[in-house]
Amino acid sequence: MSDGGARPVRRRFVEGTTIEDLKAYMGPFAATLGYVFNTETDFVDEVLRSELEILEATGDVYCPCRVRTGDPKEDVRIICPCIPFHAEQFAAIRKCWCGLFIRTDVEDGADLLGVIEEPEPGAVIEVPVCRVADLPPGCVRHVKLGRADVALARVGDEFFALSNVCRHAFAPLADGVLEGYEVMCPWHGWRYDVRDGTTDHPDADVRTYPVAVRDGLVFVSVTIR
Ligand code: SF4
Ligand code: FES
Repeated sequence: MSDGGARPVRRRFVEGTTIEDLKAYMGPFAATLGYVFNTETDFVDEVLRSELEILEATGDVYCPCRVRTGDPKEDVRIICPCIPFHAEQFAAIRKCWCGLFIRTDVEDGADLLGVIEEPEPGAVIEVPVCRVADLPPGCVRHVKLGRADVALARVGDEFFALSNVCRHAFAPLADGVLEGYEVMCPWHGWRYDVRDGTTDHPDADVRTYPVAVRDGLVFVSVTIR
């Protein structure tokens, strides 16, 4: 007999998924982005318990503190951990919206529970983008910073961040090849100096971002608009 056309619930997690399973799944990923679970363990369990209920009802671990729109393309931005989609905002408030995750440089997560201080336009925020160990020397990778697409390059033990968008025909520079301090665009070979974004082509330099390395993490500074 027909079920009236109802689509089956999509499942990424097996039946019987537990809070500990979610921790084991989310923790290592959040760590690569410079976040850990809140130091308030009861609060963490409470949020994850809500996520399990949402998983049961919807088939995925949507955020308990955000309203789903019903548009899958939009709602993918609030599947936990949603840190990569909101890196700029979370870096500014030093936690995710719910407070399930806090930045590694927050000592006491209790201080941030329920607190959201939006940064003033013009404020400079350091966003943790990856672990040092995750980007080997001579490599370049794409990171998303709010609306900005950034190419993060490592030359020896130095890190550089520049716009990921080639000014010739908009190729992603992070897909290019890094040779010394130059990244070569994957499409037509324009070269950009990762230190200052300059290229030989007139009026085609790309913007760069300040980078800092601390505690095994790479931070890129962005200005809140
Ligand atoms: S705001 Fe926090 S709890 Fe909510 S989906 Fe994002 S990471 Fe998960
Ligand atoms: S798109 Fe980069 S060189 Fe053409």
